[in-house]
Amino acid sequence: MSKWTAADLPDLTGRTVLVTGAGSGIGLIAAREFGRVGAHVVLGVRSPDKGRRAVAGMPGEFEVRHLDVADLGSVRSFAQAWTGDLDILVNNAGVMDVPAARTADGLDVQTATNYTGPFVLTNLLLPHLTDRVVSVTSQLHRQSRLNVDDFDWRSRRYHPMNAYRDSKLALVLFSLELQRRLTASGSRVKSVLAHPGIATTTLAAHSSANVVNRLGFLLNDPEHGALPTLYAATQDVPGNAYVGPDGLGSIKGHPTVRKPGRAGLDGTTARALWRATAALTGIEH
Ligand SMILES: NC(=O)c1ccc[n+]([C@@H]2O[C@H](COP(=O)([O-])OP(=O)(O)OC[C@H]3O[C@@H](n4cnc5c(N)ncnc54)[C@H](OP(=O)(O)O)[C@@H]3O)[C@@H](O)[C@H]2O)c1
Repeated sequence: MSKWTAADLPDLTGRTVLVTGAGSGIGLIAAREFGRVGAHVVLGVRSPDKGRRAVAGMPGEFEVRHLDVADLGSVRSFAQAWTGDLDILVNNAGVMDVPAARTADGLDVQTATNYTGPFVLTNLLLPHLTDRVVSVTSQLHRQSRLNVDDFDWRSRRYHPMNAYRDSKLALVLFSLELQRRLTASGSRVKSVLAHPGIATTTLAAHSSANVVNRLGFLLNDPEHGALPTLYAATQDVPGNAYVGPDGLGSIKGHPTVRKPGRAGLDGTTARALWRATAALTGIEH
């Protein structure tokens, strides 16, 4: 059987897709492809000018809106302004290995970008969702030693790569817990996970982890890195699916359904993390 590519995307005419962090990298490629097959694509970006430049001339229907996912004020304004159906939400925006810093809300920047902001955004947009939420995580969630009681790095010494690993495990726990909640409430909306393997975007450009990018031929190019997101967003996968590349170690290749790390499957931790995040952000749980 031939491998799945973006050429296999279904027609999305009449559907609305929101991609966060869609001004560059995998998010931009995913947005371009959603637009190519007819979706109305909303790019939620922290720099609207950059977003508009990125989609200028691309065939399709694109709308650029300001959204800083690390800033809960921005997330709330964005969600409050949303009207009508949202068919597919892609939580793509992310940062990796960034120095310690706090947002205006006092949150850890890396955790807020990769997990806490998407948690709030998804919860606030849920009443509009008709089809699914795709959360873009990383294989590095498998190496996390997440501390649920201090997931926002308030009492421990901050470690930039551990904060990345933890934020991506938190996203896995959130996505799977969301699916449990959707199922329990009888909703047909799905919550699914995707990861790009290792893709040669600018995510790690500033980081010591960037040494791996020198081995580019062993890695996914950004076009292939976007395929798990596109697959998870449009194919007939179960809610709670974890989609990643089919190659050795799920580093590169074409999308297939795989299993997240065991820590991601722990429902007790997921519920505790949900409660802690809801308490921190004022989301009802
Ligand atoms: N590349 C990989 O190998 C890899 C592996 C595992 C997981 N991932 C995940 O894949 C996703 C996409 O990463 P990428 O590789 O495409 O990296 P990228 O090229 O660096 O793109 C990240 C995007 O997120 C946006 N962003 C960052 N902070 C934001 C914020 N506060 N609000 C809104 N947007 C924000 C960036 O916007 P600006 O343009 O404004 O900076 C950028 O467009 C991330 O979640 C990443 O963790 C990537």
